[in-house]
Amino acid sequence: MNAIIKYFVVIAIVFVYGSDATTTLLNTNSFPPNFTFGVATAAYQIEGAWDEDGKGESIWDRFTHEYPHRISDASTADIACNSYHKYKEDVQLIKALGVDYYRFSISWTRILPTGYLNNINEAGIQYYNNLINELIANGIDPVITIYHWDLPQTLQELGGWPNSELVTHYVNFAKIAFENFGDRVKTWITFNEPKQICKLGYGDGSLAPGYKSSGIGDYRCVYTILKSHAEAYHLYHNQFNTDKQGKVGFTMDNFWYEPGSTSRADEAAVERVFEFYLGIFANPIYGTGDFPQIVKDTVGNRSLLQGFETSRLPTFTTEEVARIKGTADFFGLNFYTAVKIGNNEADLSTVSWDSDAGILYWWDPSWPSAASYWLKVVPYGIRKALKKIKDTYGDHPIIITENGYSDHGELDDYDRVNYYLTYLSSILEAIYEDDVKVVGYTAWSLLDNFEWVHGYVSRFGIHAVDFNDPNRPRTPKLSAKIFSEIVSNRTLRSTTVQAPDYANMNAPSGIMLVVLIALVNLLSRI
Ligand SMILES: *[C@@H]1O[C@H](CO)[C@@H](O)[C@H](O)[C@H]1NC(C)=O
Ligand SMILES: *[C@@H]1O[C@H](CO)[C@@H](O)[C@H](O)[C@H]1NC(C)=O
Ligand SMILES: *[C@@H]1O[C@H](CO)[C@@H](O)[C@H](O)[C@H]1NC(C)=O
Repeated sequence: MNAIIKYFVVIAIVFVYGSDATTTLLNTNSFPPNFTFGVATAAYQIEGAWDEDGKGESIWDRFTHEYPHRISDASTADIACNSYHKYKEDVQLIKALGVDYYRFSISWTRILPTGYLNNINEAGIQYYNNLINELIANGIDPVITIYHWDLPQTLQELGGWPNSELVTHYVNFAKIAFENFGDRVKTWITFNEPKQICKLGYGDGSLAPGYKSSGIGDYRCVYTILKSHAEAYHLYHNQFNTDKQGKVGFTMDNFWYEPGSTSRADEAAVERVFEFYLGIFANPIYGTGDFPQIVKDTVGNRSLLQGFETSRLPTFTTEEVARIKGTADFFGLNFYTAVKIGNNEADLSTVSWDSDAGILYWWDPSWPSAASYWLKVVPYGIRKALKKIKDTYGDHPIIITENGYSDHGELDDYDRVNYYLTYLSSILEAIYEDDVKVVGYTAWSLLDNFEWVHGYVSRFGIHAVDFNDPNRPRTPKLSAKIFSEIVSNRTLRSTTVQAPDYANMNAPSGIMLVVLIALVNLLSRI
């Protein structure tokens, strides 16, 4: 064999084993001086104590108790992380991260067990006062999500969110929160992920409360939630924000939507899905005050062709449009992944949100997957989505209110670490290249917790929780360590990290050298 070829074979082998082929370069800019970091949770997913100290039943209590087969591991959040009893330990974990704030939600039925004002549960108010005071004593700002999916079952008996009478009840609950916590809490999120609340809870019925009324009930839910949000916003600014330090925002989930092909039809489908999934909330609050024109026209036309008397999409009055427009001090964005979108020819036989949108969706098989089937790792998606939001709704301050990765609970969670690093790098690009005003970043989640219908199967925590141990001990994962370094460094490392299996190959060990020498000898005999 030719000596030159042998030489190249050896070089190639050394290159393959010695290269940094598995790392990615990261953005080297620093996070801006007033950029803040936090971690997030939600009451039902972590608190447990589902019926303790006077707490009433929520739609998730009912759903998990009544339909265990609809939860992947037939679990409930009756105990979950037991944060109701372990909040002081949680605060110490948050403090150790060095983050600026903790985003948590308040359980409606812990404060108003019947959902109504007739029964105000002082023990519930006390719990959140204790948590807030503990956070402040440890230098952490409390950020409250008023509604994170756990509607009182009593209000579900009225029909839940599709019944716009809930506006009054929601605002009563928000008022109790502003009155009791407003002296110390300056950042409020009225709703978390309204699209999921409406589309899954009242549309396809896959999540609590499990009603199937797509294309009708889910749109009525959207309508009630937008009006509830606007009323809470006005109430806060008119009656509570006396020191003008407080801010109220709204948190939507959004994917990066990518055309399935370069066809004009698929590109139009991407524009439609953006309006039907995000614009349906964002346009009323951050845009014109009303639903996007294409959503109004499409649902209106399809409804009439299907034989309905009027549009299945509720219509806002002129007064309501004026009341909703501009009711947010920041844009809350939960961002996880990207999805491919294709055109779906108008099918009038189906009444649903997705058939109105006229879309099909799927995931590119080349995108690496997290434990959650819908969560693919596509870091550039967050930069593109941020720019699209700025280009569409203007230069609002944006808080990433959730971003995170699911696995099966491993402590050496290299994939989660690299997810955070690459997504944060993409956020830096949005800030420095596209001039998007991203002002905060919240990691989901502080703890492994009850992931709705996926139970405890997929784990999002930067701290592990042992759900088999009655004490629910917490253990920091590698991601907690790296996240706290990012927060204190205020910049990323130069590259993603490598799991030890790969890292060891970088420095050819003695054994590796012996193998290489043997190989050279072998080749020289050919
Ligand atoms: C953050 O700081 C920069 C520079 O000091 C300033 O221009 C920007 O308005 C600030 N953003 C917010 C949301 O306070
Ligand atoms: C709705 O119907 C009107 C009248 O037929 C038509 O002009 C318009 O293009 C339709 N709009 C949509 C979005 O389908
Ligand atoms: C933070 O900075 C320290 C000291 O420069 C460095 O060793 C560490 O790798 C950095 N961590 C991250 C996650 O950037």
